[in-house]
Amino acid sequence: MIDQITISKIQDAAQIVEVVSDFVTLRRRGVNYVGLCPFHDDRTPSFYVSPVKNLCKCFSCGVGGSPVHFVMKHEQLSYPEALKFLAKKYNIDVVEKEFTPEEKQAESERESMFIINEYARDYFMKTLHESHEGKAIGLSYFKERGFREDIIKKFQLGYGLDERNAFSVEALRAGFKQEFLIKTGLSGGGENNSPLYDRFRGRVIFPVHTISGKVVAFGGRILKKADKLAKYVNSPESDIYSKSKELYGIFFAKSAIAKAKKCFLVEGYTDVISMHQAGIENVVSSSGTALTQGQINMIRRFSDNITVLYDGDRAGITAALRGIDLLLESGMNVWVVLLPDGEDPDSFARKNNAEGFNKYIEDNEQDFIRFKTRLLLEDTGDDPIKRSGLINNIVESISLIPDSIKRSVYIKDTANIFDTREEVLISSVNRLRRQIFEKRKAEQERNNTQKAISAPTPAAAYTAQLTDNVNIAPKVGATSSPFDHYERELVRYIIRYGMLPIFISFDVENREIDGQRHEVEVVTEDGPTVIEVIREDLTRDDFIFEGKPFFKNELYRTIYEEACNNMFDEAFDPERYFLHHSNPKISHLSVELLGDAYQLSKIHAKAMGEREDDKSSRLNERNSLDRLVIRATTELKNAYVIERVKEVKSKIKTAAPDKIMELMSELKDLQSLKIILAKSLGERIVLRY
Ligand code: CTP
Ligand code: MN
Repeated sequence: MIDQITISKIQDAAQIVEVVSDFVTLRRRGVNYVGLCPFHDDRTPSFYVSPVKNLCKCFSCGVGGSPVHFVMKHEQLSYPEALKFLAKKYNIDVVEKEFTPEEKQAESERESMFIINEYARDYFMKTLHESHEGKAIGLSYFKERGFREDIIKKFQLGYGLDERNAFSVEALRAGFKQEFLIKTGLSGGGENNSPLYDRFRGRVIFPVHTISGKVVAFGGRILKKADKLAKYVNSPESDIYSKSKELYGIFFAKSAIAKAKKCFLVEGYTDVISMHQAGIENVVSSSGTALTQGQINMIRRFSDNITVLYDGDRAGITAALRGIDLLLESGMNVWVVLLPDGEDPDSFARKNNAEGFNKYIEDNEQDFIRFKTRLLLEDTGDDPIKRSGLINNIVESISLIPDSIKRSVYIKDTANIFDTREEVLISSVNRLRRQIFEKRKAEQERNNTQKAISAPTPAAAYTAQLTDNVNIAPKVGATSSPFDHYERELVRYIIRYGMLPIFISFDVENREIDGQRHEVEVVTEDGPTVIEVIREDLTRDDFIFEGKPFFKNELYRTIYEEACNNMFDEAFDPERYFLHHSNPKISHLSVELLGDAYQLSKIHAKAMGEREDDKSSRLNERNSLDRLVIRATTELKNAYVIERVKEVKSKIKTAAPDKIMELMSELKDLQSLKIILAKSLGERIVLRY
């Protein structure tokens, strides 16, 4: 139990921006901060953090709350666990340094397992630094390897005595339950009252941390070469530990990854540690196995760029080729660096400082597909059968890349290297992509029937519907511009709902429930207004508009601008204001748009999986403004990008050869932008319903 005074202390100390920043890279946006939502697969920043209110909220998936709520949700903790988590971050004593008997039998098993791991970590560290054996064997091993004292402490390295059950006995004596010692895998034995024995004996210990720094597992490395014993013993999979979900080093690397906009991937614990010591902190290890989708998503929250570092020997090279598929498929930009023969990141980092290491990387970093091509080519020589096998192999990798422009660049490249016709490669890639697509579709269908939700409406279909329907309406002042109906839609939101708060936002109150105090969310309505949000969202990505006004249609532009001019005037009533506007075109348009409302809501209702004849459509529209408005701005941006893609493509057709590369690269940027926008449109429709 945590007393109320301590709870208040924690709540006062916890700053939402600081708390969220530990997990999400935030950018300032006006008085708020935004970032990618950690609670769903977010491609455009939907996660809002308000330092003023000390609250956060994703307006795509809806998750959010106070710092305590955020931690509860993100770390899967109970309320008291989350409070303790924050207390630790802010150095607030919860008066429980010695674990109390109640805590030792903590409510949740998971918590008990984490507590035991924490205890074990401290025990191993203490053994390393204070016991005779630990110092003589473990610490001197680390020192011989060249690990500095501060790095040994930072990574919380330890040592397990070379005895059958020194740790287990100590832990039992300290009051920990045998059940959890076994569940965490720290101890073995215990069947039919047999005595416990230690898993980690005579080994140096590497604790494995979650992204938030909690200890989920340990790796123990043997010190001497011994044929019979595995070099590493690792904690077994458990309720808290799944090897494929954790990344060694991510806790220490995350902010460096965000800052460097790039993540290094290495094989082992020691590689991560040595690189940190050399001053390169944006590095993680998949602990000797291929990366999983979950691990990639974790890295992706901080950066899209990954550089895989491998030993320059044969085994290193083969390893480099394995497990890259998922990265390519995820749309990550993948580079490879081969270290000099005989070196691994660990040994290389010890011989170089950060500057030297970075210089080597800069000079030797290769695009993955090119690296693979060149490398395999060395082996095949002129053997035609081997060569065609190799081409297929490369084509397979290329077909995994989601971005079509990237793919076409690689196809050109490969065609050049092998002196084959591009069309042949294109058709193989297309065939493979069709297969991938069919496979995914089948998987998705399986998933969908399980979820029993209405089928997701792809953004494209949605856009088509919108186009069709809008044509029905008479149009005051409409032009044939391809942006017209998107602009019109935004203007409609401005006139109809302009001064309404867009997020039904919420505050947190402390209330007593069943004799215990709890934080309760209380709905209030004072988020930014529709006009504010439209302006902010367009301005945020103003590069898309190339410095041109956001609204091409003059009439719409006037409305937007006048609304912006008045948006801080509390008495401003957009509906009234524009209905009685001195420009008759504007007042006419207002009448029309207010009448349009139902027509358009129907389209949204449909797109959002609601029944078309839903009488409450209007009410739904009012209640869904957060998503609707942001989707409308995204659609406008999307339309701009689509137009520019068309323009650039037609320019490419007639461009002089020296201009083509430039245009291609512009096209590539636009395509990635398009994918991001389409994704976010798709997500907003699919995810919520
Ligand atoms: N690994 C493992 N179990 C093993 C061997 C390796 O879990 N039996 C994992 C560890 O995470 C290890 C990584 O694979 O860190 C890479 O293996 P390796 O290069 O052999 O180990 P290093 O940690 O680099 O050890 P050292 O440099 O001391 O040889
Ligand atoms: Mn190594």
